[in-house]
Amino acid sequence: MAATVLIGSQWGDEGKGKIIDYLSEKSDIIVRFHGGNNAGHTVINSFGKFPMHLIPSGIFNKKAKAVIANGTIIDLEVLKNEIDLLRKAKVSIDGRLFISPRCHVIMPYHKLLDRLYEEAKGKNKTGTTGRGIGPTYADKVSYNGIRLADFFDKKVFSQKLETQLMVKNKVLKALGEKPLNKKDVEEEYYKLFRKIKPFIKEVFPVVFNNLNKKILLEGAHGVFLDNDWGTYPFVTASTVLSGGATAGAGIPPQKIEHVIGVVKAYTTRVGSGPFPTELFDKNGETLTSEGNEYGTTTGRKRRCGWFDAELIRFAAKINGYTEIAITKLDVLDNFSEIKVCKGYSLKGKKVNYEDLVAEQLSKVKPVYKTLKGWKSSTKGITKYKDLPENAKKYLREIEKEVGVKISLVSTGADRKQIIEIV
Ligand code: GDP
Ligand code: IMO
Ligand code: MG
Repeated sequence: MAATVLIGSQWGDEGKGKIIDYLSEKSDIIVRFHGGNNAGHTVINSFGKFPMHLIPSGIFNKKAKAVIANGTIIDLEVLKNEIDLLRKAKVSIDGRLFISPRCHVIMPYHKLLDRLYEEAKGKNKTGTTGRGIGPTYADKVSYNGIRLADFFDKKVFSQKLETQLMVKNKVLKALGEKPLNKKDVEEEYYKLFRKIKPFIKEVFPVVFNNLNKKILLEGAHGVFLDNDWGTYPFVTASTVLSGGATAGAGIPPQKIEHVIGVVKAYTTRVGSGPFPTELFDKNGETLTSEGNEYGTTTGRKRRCGWFDAELIRFAAKINGYTEIAITKLDVLDNFSEIKVCKGYSLKGKKVNYEDLVAEQLSKVKPVYKTLKGWKSSTKGITKYKDLPENAKKYLREIEKEVGVKISLVSTGADRKQIIEIV
């Protein structure tokens, strides 16, 4: 048995939650290894509809263990609410949810700073989710973070908070914000911590001692939001790639055998930054409405565009995809023509994604191939043979352009609406 990593291949919201929920039935352990509650993974199954932000989307397999590993950063209130939501839906979590004490905590000043930096940047803002993600990771790498482990000794937590507030309150004041009161923060956060404490335990053995079982590593966001390889500075703060899973989950690289890229059948993006195949016409509006493209975390309208094979080819290479899962095929059901971007040109020359910085990427011209649509419903189809001929052609075109086999095709938001291609 070996571990599988699942990665979002575009700018997030590819439908990872749906695919993870489906795959969790065949998994023993599901691990979140990076990011925070900037992620919003929608799961729709027999328990109901859930927007998962921190707890792995695989939590719904009652036999599996769910792990929030060290690479993840945690908003205690969001986590508490998510635990409450699952309990209310009668999803058992006791004895199945494990949270690493190494996880850094998103503190109130991180959320404030996220907003203040965005405001200061004005029209050049990143368009963050406002969840304090960048400032929390910045504190992590500059040795100023507060981890769950720190809360176990009240004195340690108190002292660390005091040090941080000494600095953060000066910054907050300079940016026109009221300083935070130490006692208030300490009490509120300690209270939240106590609710989560029973789940916190070093998770290294949970993963390492079970390497003979089926482990599913749940990626968040998408490749082009990666801090190194995304469209910097319009990215997120963590390493999104399959390589990040080894450090973020504490798993040796040789144990990762399968890498699944989740790929939306078209492209979407939330927040600022370049998007070569973005549509500003009626087709874009149709994708938004048919795909219900509004953010799971912030409710913002997602920008929509055609499928971009240049991006997915790069994602496949850098992550080492062994297979891809196509989602939201049904959203394309009503188009008479569908375009696929085969590559880019810049000033008349063919260019590749990896050679471009964000400013250049915003200027490239997509080179399109036009395919015929299928103009019939694929919603809920579960067998490849039942797909319309032109939908099969579209999938084969993607496979040919990307050079990786398609193993799953999602035809609706529900767990059961999926085609397995063997
Ligand atoms: P994630 O962040 O990658 O997990 O994706 P989100 O949950 O943020 O966004 C994906 C949206 O598409 C959610 O509303 C899902 O319920 C929905 N979805 C997932 N797969 C499909 C599909 O195959 N067809 C349709 N129509 N919706 C889907
Ligand atoms: P899931 O896991 C879509 C985007 C934000 C913004 C940029 C930086 O649901 O696919 P941040 O709050 O991380 O500092 O914002 O990254 N972003 C996402 N967009 N889906 C996500 O997660 C995202 N996580 C971050 O919109 O552009
Ligand atoms: Mg999402």
